[in-house]
Amino acid sequence: MDKLLIEGSLPLKGEVTVSGAKNSVLPILAATLLTDDACVLRGVPNLRDTNTMFKILRSLGKAVDFDGDKGVVTVSPSKNISYIADYKLVSTMRASFCVLGPLLAKLKKAKVSLPGGCIIGIRPVDLHIKGLKALGAEIDVEGGYVVASAKKLKGNLVYLGGVFGSSVLATDNVMMAAVFAQGNTVIESAACEPEVADLAEFLIKMGAKIKGHGTPIIEIEGVKHLHGAEHRIIPDRIEAGTFMLASLITRGDITIKNACCGHLGALIDKLQEAGACVCKSENSLRVYSRKNLKPVNITTLPFPGFATDMQAQFMSLMSVTPGISVITEKIYPDRFMHVAELNRMGATIQREGPHAIVAGIKSLSGAPVMASDLRASASLVLAGLVAKGKTAISRIYHLERGYENIESKLEKIGARIWRERE
Ligand code: UD1
Repeated sequence: MDKLLIEGSLPLKGEVTVSGAKNSVLPILAATLLTDDACVLRGVPNLRDTNTMFKILRSLGKAVDFDGDKGVVTVSPSKNISYIADYKLVSTMRASFCVLGPLLAKLKKAKVSLPGGCIIGIRPVDLHIKGLKALGAEIDVEGGYVVASAKKLKGNLVYLGGVFGSSVLATDNVMMAAVFAQGNTVIESAACEPEVADLAEFLIKMGAKIKGHGTPIIEIEGVKHLHGAEHRIIPDRIEAGTFMLASLITRGDITIKNACCGHLGALIDKLQEAGACVCKSENSLRVYSRKNLKPVNITTLPFPGFATDMQAQFMSLMSVTPGISVITEKIYPDRFMHVAELNRMGATIQREGPHAIVAGIKSLSGAPVMASDLRASASLVLAGLVAKGKTAISRIYHLERGYENIESKLEKIGARIWRERE
């Protein structure tokens, strides 16, 4: 296992280019199961999670050819598609559960392992099951697998709101199952995240009839057949947001290219409230600050609210912004594993149920810390970039799940960061 070492206190300056969105490409790869033709995807990041999805597709009977340098993947038919998704692979990555909808739509049966437990809290799949049942599927849980079957799927009204709001992957699963359902499906309280809309755009290119994606009501008119398609994945808004915070936390000046400002509204608003300068242009953002930032409160919400996937990184910035800020987590109330590690670096953060009260201080000090999940790892990298002395982050395989070439991207803009074997 590798660990990441960072020597902090250097302002980061220059340009960095954001990769394609992890949360877009994973369901889009699953959607290639809906056609017998080849599909070509561009802007595909070379990540641990994308590689896991390639393995799942191969195990289901697809040929996957990935050119990591160009970020182009071609998914073609190789043999008959299997309806059983490998237990070991699916249980390692929650997003792989979104092969359930396409397998059910294409084969009228599917057996997909329940996604594994997750450090950021309980992550049920009741909304996925409710949605697929509404389309006529029979679903049982047997031996750790979700087993779904249907003589035929029929369009219906599907309400997907849950206790914590809408669900991204449940919307993806139901939308993909509905493309071959007879008649019309209306998903109410659909997730509005840009990644759901990107999946819908890909399905439309394949011949699906979908309207309203990007809004809480998605309408799908069933079709009989989908063909192959080519598609470019949207930029990763969480990676873009992480670099925006890297600029501010190090008192730097970074221009982030291939960033979509329309996907970052809540974060930009909060940074401006804190006193940062955010200069927007069509496909890029420049972020810097000429004065001391002031603390601001955030509450995570479904899109277009403040993304839960940016909460940990924002906490790192607030921990070195003198004054009090309150961070409220409304999507995953237990997503606070990074608090103890940031405190190990000198931060003063107190957790109170779904809130973290951050008493910002002037500086952090480098320490050995442990990454617990993907976005928590990013928060520790940010803290390491500003801390005095050396920070050693272990278990960085979490980071590799979602950030393409993060060390070289940070190095190019002035960070002292390197990897060592543990
Ligand atoms: C996706 C993202 C993840 C992000 C999350 C919330 C992908 C691959 N992952 O995960 O990075 O943190 O959205 O923006 O896109 N819930 C239920 N029942 C369900 C499903 C979800 O109660 O059947 C709850 C969850 O526990 C959570 C909330 O709904 O509290 C939102 O979760 P959801 O949007 O489903 O997250 P994912 O799609 O798994």
